[in-house]
Amino acid sequence: MAAQKEVDYMGLLRRVEAGEFGTTGSQAAVASHDPASVAVVAPPSNGDGVSASPAPRRLTPPGRPGFGSVTGATQTATISRELKHRVKNRLIAEMDPDMDLSKTVEVRQRIRALFDLVVDTENTVLTRTERERLFEEAAADIIGFGPIETLLQDATVSEVMVNGPNQIYVEQKGKLRLADVTFDDDEHVRRIIDRIVSPLGRHVDESSPICDARLPDGSRVNIVIPPVSLVGPTITIRKFSKTPLVIDDLIRFGSMTPEIAEFLRACVLARLNIVVSGGTGSGKTTLLNVLSSFIPDDERIVTVEDAAELQLRQDHVVRLEARPPNIEGKGGITIRDLVINCLRMRPERIVVGECRGREALDMLQAMNTGHDGSLTTGHANTPRDMLSRLETMVLMAGMDLPVRAIREQVASAVDLIVQQSRLRDGSRKITNITEVQGMEGEIITLQDVFVFEQEAFEGGKVIGRMKPTGVRPKFMPKIEDAGIRLSPSIFGLADRFF
Ligand SMILES: Nc1ncnc2c1ncn2[C@@H]1O[C@H](COP(=O)(O)OP(=O)(O)OP(=O)(O)O)[C@@H](O)[C@H]1O
Ligand SMILES: [Mg+2]
Repeated sequence: MAAQKEVDYMGLLRRVEAGEFGTTGSQAAVASHDPASVAVVAPPSNGDGVSASPAPRRLTPPGRPGFGSVTGATQTATISRELKHRVKNRLIAEMDPDMDLSKTVEVRQRIRALFDLVVDTENTVLTRTERERLFEEAAADIIGFGPIETLLQDATVSEVMVNGPNQIYVEQKGKLRLADVTFDDDEHVRRIIDRIVSPLGRHVDESSPICDARLPDGSRVNIVIPPVSLVGPTITIRKFSKTPLVIDDLIRFGSMTPEIAEFLRACVLARLNIVVSGGTGSGKTTLLNVLSSFIPDDERIVTVEDAAELQLRQDHVVRLEARPPNIEGKGGITIRDLVINCLRMRPERIVVGECRGREALDMLQAMNTGHDGSLTTGHANTPRDMLSRLETMVLMAGMDLPVRAIREQVASAVDLIVQQSRLRDGSRKITNITEVQGMEGEIITLQDVFVFEQEAFEGGKVIGRMKPTGVRPKFMPKIEDAGIRLSPSIFGLADRFF
């Protein structure tokens, strides 16, 4: 069947290249006997003189009501949508679905030839710009990701959210806004979803309507289709940044001060166990990446992630990525499997992208058993919440541990919680740097070392600054043992307190 299509397609292209369309001849465009319609493409021959594709489709000629003769902005918009629809559908129907889309230059040339042919037969006058735009849209549908292709190419867009065919939001400069592109219909979104998941050997349908995937550039994708999604097929893309944010960027954006940066660098060098806490999309992974960049070059780092997002610049890094089970429910490798396994890989640093469940127990055990200097993130809105989350996650591991034992383990494993937040002006900031000091009775004692204080909300911007609480962390001896001297002024203290 595929071979047949290839034959058909090649035949079609040969005819395109030979300029046979629009001329007379047995294999060229045939004139329609229906005066109301114009036949535009001859059915490609399978070599036996037998038509291998459906009967020629007919385009409505200009001058017909609803096309070409109507005026007015709304009607024009409708017409151009119809035209787009027709041109795209014709192109998709003519292109070989088994074509190697990775040869983009070649495929683009083929699309161009077909496109010119199809548009010329439309008898619609398009300006050069309109024609180019239509071509880009059509090409994006075939070799790219359709209407969202331009958003993915736009470096200022950090996230793309498709809520069904007619509503696409993007995040730009920390703010959500409605994009001015739409899909034609649910089916169009489904085609693009298939384009995303099929190269990964995955499949999305009504019986498995949720899927995590990645774009070829590493961007993280989540897909939910009906019946689970009630707004039509949805796609959420966290764009992969080719140039990840570095410490200087975070200082420049006001996410942290140079003093905080110096403090966090010291904490990483002194091998403290650090948990970055934050809500969804608050910048946890970005901060984890920045903290990991402080790990010295001569240490062996093993990273464990659900979807590999970390981009460490050190040479000696072993990257592990979990994988979902296959269609029969077999072969899944969880984050927990990887955390357990990485202990046998002689890691000097373990960096776990995010603790979401049972792996928290193994992570805490690792932190408590000589794998200090480990880093991870977790989903919580305050440092105190992070402790409860860790407790719950350990309970999920199914070990029948008393709560007090879990808390003791958390308190002795974690040295520092860095709270990352997305503020209401869209900016992302560190809002607390909190030391886990130990236990007092049944309760884990936390002590803020730095806290972000909001002073005003002016012109849509949050104004405030990160202030030291004036408390010298109890882990300071570890930092000093690592040969690092921090100025007492970082903590808002005079020399005599040190
Ligand atoms: N400090 C920052 N300033 C500005 N933008 C940031 C900052 N940190 C992260 N971002 C941007 O915010 C988006 C989300 O960042 P990131 O992936 O690190 O968040 P996350 O908390 O790990 O999200 P999730 O919960 O989905 O895993 C990215 O586009 C990233 O480039
Ligand atoms: Mg993340």
